[in-house]
Amino acid sequence: MRVNVSGFDALKNENGSVRLALNAFTLTGTSNAFYPVLVNRGANNQFFALDTRCTHMGCVVPPFNATAGASVCPCHSSRFRIDGTVVPGSPATRALQSFPVSFDGVDLLCIEIATLGYTVSETSVQSGTGARVQLQFPTRTGVKYEVLFRQSLAGAGVVVPFATTIGGAATATVLTGNNAAATLFVDRTSDAGFYSIAVQVNPG
Ligand code: FES
Repeated sequence: MRVNVSGFDALKNENGSVRLALNAFTLTGTSNAFYPVLVNRGANNQFFALDTRCTHMGCVVPPFNATAGASVCPCHSSRFRIDGTVVPGSPATRALQSFPVSFDGVDLLCIEIATLGYTVSETSVQSGTGARVQLQFPTRTGVKYEVLFRQSLAGAGVVVPFATTIGGAATATVLTGNNAAATLFVDRTSDAGFYSIAVQVNPG
């Protein structure tokens, strides 16, 4: 998961925190896909990415509250510090699961979430409207996907429209997952470049 820190006011300062959701969830979690990810900013540009699944009984913990000095679970008041460790005396006894992060020192925070990974297979196909690229990948229910194209690996990705049938018009930009494999088709507009499937995240 790539997060542009400047895109979130809450992450501009120490003790800032934002909760990023990949799908709908309730207080007690989510039955079909992912718990939100908590991104916390500590001192000296140190960031923490944490699973919001409370280690007591699985409720979803809220963003870090600087006044309270903790993320306080709404179910039984377990308290977690900015790095996800548990405050003694809480019903929970274990830290929130943390994900590896790397920060470029300027704006880009990369978070490694193994369970979020998926592979995309890609094939060139010919449709009535011209050359297309077929992209296939597994989806998770309620997660929203989009297709990005970049001319070089270092370049910024731009969202490109896609079709869901080989001959259909490429007009959709978002696909909502249903736990089945998806097959999308994009019009080939360049001799070289890279397509990728990105997941939308929203502050939640
Ligand atoms: S589920 Fe969080 S404190 Fe009980």
